[in-house]
Amino acid sequence: MKNFSHDIAPGDGLSRRTVLGGMAGSAFLCALPLAASAKASNVREFSLKAQPGTATILGGKWADTKVWNYSGQTPGPVLRVTQGDRVRIHVENGLDQPTTIHWHGLRIPINMDGVPDISQAPIQPGETFTYEFVVPDAGTFWYHPHVNTSEQIARGLNGILIVEEKSPPTVDREELWVIDDWRLNQDATIQENFGHGMDISHGGRQGNLVTINGKVPDIFSVRSGERIRLRLANVANARLFGLRFEGHEPQVIAIDGHPVLPHVPQNGQLILAPGQRVDIILDCTAKPGTAFKVMDEIYADQAYALIDIAYSKDKPVRTKLLGKIKPLADNPLSEPNLADPNRNKYEVIIDGGAMGSMQGADFKGQYLTINELIKHRRIWAINGVAADTTAMAPMYTVKRGSTNVFSIKNDTVFPHPMHLHGHAFRILSINGQAELYRPWADTVLLPPQGSAKIAFVADNPGDWLFHCHILEHVDGGMLSVIRVR
Ligand code: C2O
Ligand code: CU
Repeated sequence: MKNFSHDIAPGDGLSRRTVLGGMAGSAFLCALPLAASAKASNVREFSLKAQPGTATILGGKWADTKVWNYSGQTPGPVLRVTQGDRVRIHVENGLDQPTTIHWHGLRIPINMDGVPDISQAPIQPGETFTYEFVVPDAGTFWYHPHVNTSEQIARGLNGILIVEEKSPPTVDREELWVIDDWRLNQDATIQENFGHGMDISHGGRQGNLVTINGKVPDIFSVRSGERIRLRLANVANARLFGLRFEGHEPQVIAIDGHPVLPHVPQNGQLILAPGQRVDIILDCTAKPGTAFKVMDEIYADQAYALIDIAYSKDKPVRTKLLGKIKPLADNPLSEPNLADPNRNKYEVIIDGGAMGSMQGADFKGQYLTINELIKHRRIWAINGVAADTTAMAPMYTVKRGSTNVFSIKNDTVFPHPMHLHGHAFRILSINGQAELYRPWADTVLLPPQGSAKIAFVADNPGDWLFHCHILEHVDGGMLSVIRVR
C-alpha cells in the first residue's frame, strides 16, 4: 500500500485526546425491537429515521458536530437479529434530500437492496419505506444509504446489522468497533467539500480524525484470561486500516460476516478496507495491570496507535485459558463449481484515476477522452465504461445458478475494495497467489496495479451492483452492474 497517496494523516489537525470514561462510556444503545407490533415470534421489527442531528465526536472543549444520523445515533442503532429471522425495518426520511438504505452484505431480494433505479424509488423527504426480508446468513453486516452515498455516509449515516448464529461461539463477551474517519474543521464541524475533484481522482475522501463507535478512541478495558469476540467494521468513505494488536494474537473467525477457518492473519495485520468487516477472537493472555497498543500500520510511514488495550488489575478470570477456537458453522452459500466446464469466465479491468494511463471511456453511451470525462467529473472506468448513475446497462448477464469466475485487474495506482451486491464470492487468489483460506466475502481489496480472482454462484436474480467501496471512486464512475436471470 506504499504508493497509495493520501493527504491527511489521522493525527493531523485535531490531536488525539483522552475521552473521560474511555470506550466504556461510548457504548451506544441497541435499537429495541418494537415488540408490540411484531406479529410472529420470528419477525423482528425496527424503525430508523435518517435525520440531521448532532454528535459528541470530540467532546471536552470542542462543540458537538452537526451530523446526519439514524434515530439520533451515529453510527446508527445496532440492529441485532438471529439467522433465519424475518426483519422488517421502517425507514423514515427526515433529511431534506432523498435517501435509501442498502443492507451491505445481506443476500436478500433485489427489491430490498436499496439501490435507486434498480431496487426502488428513493425515499423522498418526509416519506417512509418499509424494508422486509429474511436474513439467510449469520455474521456482521452493515447498512447505509445508496443515494448521494459519499456525502450521506460521510455525514454519519451508517450502522451495523448483526445476525447472530443460532448457536454462537463461547466467549466471555462480545464487542463491536465501528471504525470510521471524519474530515473536520478546527471547530469540529464537518468539512463540506464533498465530491472534491482531488478525492475523486486520488484515494477518496480521507478524514483527519479516526473514531471507534463515533468517538475518539482511548482505552479498551479487558481482564486477564478473557476471551472476547470482537466485530470490526470499516464504515469510512475511503480510509483503509491495517491493525496490529501488540502483544496479542487475534484469530480471524469471519470475513465480511462469513465464517473462515480460524487463523492468525498474515504478518499479524488485520486489513480492513472500506465496507469490510472482520470478526476476531481476542484472547487476553497478558498479565493484570499491563497495557498494549492497537497500531494502525496500513501506511508504514504513518503508523499510529488507534487505541490502547488496558488490563485491569483484577486477577485473571481463569487460570487455564480457553482451548482451541472452533470454527463457526457455515452459512448456506452455494459452492462455486470450478470443475464445471460451463462455468463463465469473465475479465474485469479497472482503469483510470490520477497518475493513470486511461485515454478515455464510454460515458452515457458515448466514447469520451479523459479530458472530456473530467468535465463530467468522471475519471474511472470498469471495462471501458464510466458510470453515470445506477441506471446502466449490465456489464455481464449471467444465468441463474451458474458458476462465475471473475479475473479482476487493477490498472490503476490506487487500491480498490470492490463490492458485489446480493451475493458472497470466494476469493481464489490475489496477485496470482492462491488465497490460503479461500474466504467468502462481499468486498475484495485489489492492490494497486494488482489483481484478484473471485468465484460465485449467481443464485440471486436481479441487477446487482459491482462497485468500488471508496465512495468518491463511485462518484468518479467506478460502478457496474451484473445481471442475474
Ligand atoms: Cu456498501 Cu453498494 O454498497
Ligand atoms: Cu476505488
